[in-house]
Amino acid sequence: MTIHIGAEKGQIAPTVLMPGDPYRARWAAQTFLDAPELVNETRGMLGYTGTWKGHPVTIQGSGMGMPSLSIYANELIRDFDAQTLIRIGSCGGMQPHVKLRDIIVAMTASSISTPSSGIFREFNYAPTADWGLLRAAVAACEANSIQPHVGAIYSSDVFYDERPDLNAEMVRHGILGVEMEAAELYTLAARYNRRALAVLTVSDHLGTGEALPSEDREKSFADMVEIALSAAFA
Ligand code: HPA
Repeated sequence: MTIHIGAEKGQIAPTVLMPGDPYRARWAAQTFLDAPELVNETRGMLGYTGTWKGHPVTIQGSGMGMPSLSIYANELIRDFDAQTLIRIGSCGGMQPHVKLRDIIVAMTASSISTPSSGIFREFNYAPTADWGLLRAAVAACEANSIQPHVGAIYSSDVFYDERPDLNAEMVRHGILGVEMEAAELYTLAARYNRRALAVLTVSDHLGTGEALPSEDREKSFADMVEIALSAAFA
């Protein structure tokens, strides 16, 4: 048991999927895992452990934003010895060729700051996905006739952004989409020599202002969970 995760040590699997939304953790666990068991409900940040094709898996909500994800990822890594952490979540599309419902596999995650920025001081660290997981996720997409976008994303500290000038520079430099968690997850995984990846579904678009209707979100989310699980055990 830790401050934010009420599970006993053996109740968290070495492989953890992390959606931002705790209700999506519940939905994904009940939809994809065999014998899912609720292992955390501290602060309502639901976590479930079950098996997928015989492999133990935990699906634990991270909350929104890097400070929240950092708390859960730190405890999962340092106290529960999680080895593979895959964020499954939504993002805003930034490039014109990135469409609603598309899947982005994030190779790198740029940011203005992360909870780890303080330790780097003047150094601009480049948070990077685990290559083996990234390659396996792309292979899983292709096996399911899904063509993902693979490349750079932006992990923002704000959903309600006030810097259109900066967004324009990001678009100009190829950033595919924006979300709020991956850069810190990648940084923590590097620090503790664990594997991390973010697989994202485009739920809205900064350029066009479109957003997915809520009934469409579930199906897109399902593809992402399957890709993440296949990558974890490839
Ligand atoms: N901005 C930041 N995070 C997001 C967005 C967005 O537009 N969409 C989904 N997560």
